Amino acid sequence: MFRKLKEELDSIMERDPAARSRLEVYFLYSGFKAVRAYRRANWFYRHDMKFIARCISQRARHTTGIEIHPGATIGKGLFIDHGMGVVIGETAEIGDNCTIYQGVTLGGTGKDQGKRHPTLGDNVMVGSGAKVLGPFRVGNNARIAAGAVVLTEVPDNATAVGVPARVVRLNGEKVPSPCANLDQIHVADPIGDRLSELEEQLQDLQLSLEMFENGSGI
Ligand SMILES: CC(C)(COP(=O)(O)OP(=O)(O)OC[C@H]1O[C@@H](n2cnc3c(N)ncnc32)[C@H](O)[C@@H]1OP(=O)(O)O)[C@@H](O)C(=O)NCCC(=O)NCCS
Repeated sequence: MFRKLKEELDSIMERDPAARSRLEVYFLYSGFKAVRAYRRANWFYRHDMKFIARCISQRARHTTGIEIHPGATIGKGLFIDHGMGVVIGETAEIGDNCTIYQGVTLGGTGKDQGKRHPTLGDNVMVGSGAKVLGPFRVGNNARIAAGAVVLTEVPDNATAVGVPARVVRLNGEKVPSPCANLDQIHVADPIGDRLSELEEQLQDLQLSLEMFENGSGI
């Protein structure tokens, strides 16, 4: 048990340059407290004591500002940095060594039944304020940018940014934007085309009128 605790503390120390000591992380980090409360709550949840499980998770929410449903499945080494405003839904699954910043929601869209929340692979980073909504997978080593709203699957080793999120990096390579090859100079001009047609028709009419006036058209 102490070995596991030490591993959790060390994994946070590795990822947070601001962490001075294990003691500081243990006593002062709200993310660490919330994950420990989740592990207790999850034990009660799995042993069909759902009310006690919810009591523990709601109490932790009041003290840390982080709401983790006791039914969520969370691997080892989860680091919730700063924490305030994080919500992790009942059917969310999180792999090993993931990092989640403040204001992140791993939630549902309200359209799904059963599995409603996302599954994060291993070593996933979810930036501050990002919302990952729906029962899809975010691949191993993926990075979700701060403020992104992710609504579809993200592959392994990808970076997803924006609202709705799109993949901008895959395996370290930039993914060109869908607009990158858009020709913004030779743009279709239906009004100009119609005006040219009318001008040609006007010239034809003028020619016909001149021929008629000269009597050569009769
Ligand atoms: C996305 C992030 C992880 C960088 O990942 P990366 O794979 O190194 O990606 P890059 O920095 O090469 O950026 C790729 C593109 O996404 C854009 N981008 C990066 N972060 C973005 C964001 N949050 N929102 C919108 N676009 C973003 C970049 O401008 C770049 O665009 P370009 O290709 O047009 O130049 C990082 O920008 C980020 O958002 N980290 C979150 C950290 C955080 O929440 N910190 C809180 C601490 S309290």
